[in-house]
Amino acid sequence: MKKIETCLSPMLLPVYALNQKIAVVVDVFRATSTIAAGLHAGVAAILPVATIAEAQAHQAQGYLAAAERNGQTVAGFDLGNSPLAFLNENLRQKTIVLTTTNGTKCLNECLGAQEIICGSFVNLQACVNYLHQKNCDVIIVCAGWKDSPSLEDTLFAGALVQKMAEKNYEIADDASLMAANIYEQAKGNITEYLKNSSHYKRLQQHGTDADLVYCTSYNTAPVVPIYTQNKLITHIF
Ligand code: MLT
Repeated sequence: MKKIETCLSPMLLPVYALNQKIAVVVDVFRATSTIAAGLHAGVAAILPVATIAEAQAHQAQGYLAAAERNGQTVAGFDLGNSPLAFLNENLRQKTIVLTTTNGTKCLNECLGAQEIICGSFVNLQACVNYLHQKNCDVIIVCAGWKDSPSLEDTLFAGALVQKMAEKNYEIADDASLMAANIYEQAKGNITEYLKNSSHYKRLQQHGTDADLVYCTSYNTAPVVPIYTQNKLITHIF
């Protein structure tokens, strides 16, 4: 029986073995929602880098560059980390370098995994279909906020755990069980459930309410972003 585990914060990654597992990196607000949105809208590839310096270096080479820190767009970059901005048809077929506070840093900390894909509510079912087809052990890695667990990423983990359990995956750790139990309480209306979370309130203060609604919508960007050769592309089933 294949197993699913949940790492609630990148700080806990040393506790887990990543090799021979598919890592599902999740940063619901907003990196992995943005990545799925952009790839679904026709962006050719997204290069997730951990630092602003790396993003600037790519920008100097001619790449479109997106940078977010503390929920806001970094000055001097073409884009921030809004999923809605990545739906722009002018970005179709472009390659975009992306650095965010948590999500891209977390992804780069998962390079020891057999495979890395990006999960969010906007591509939940696409992730379930992919993982079921691959039939490998899975570890969900939550980006959280500056190494603190986040409610939104934990909710996504619970949703994915529940769905993989329906595919006969073993819930292999308490973090997954906790996440699934929390999701059971919230699944009727996750947007409402998240309104008191720290990141939801932080983003509301920045006037990004439309992003929050998008990031808590189910399956609006049904693609599987897969990490290969230092970039995220859409997996073709
Ligand atoms: C991120 O996506 O890395 C961050 O959590 C913050 C954000 O986009 O507001």
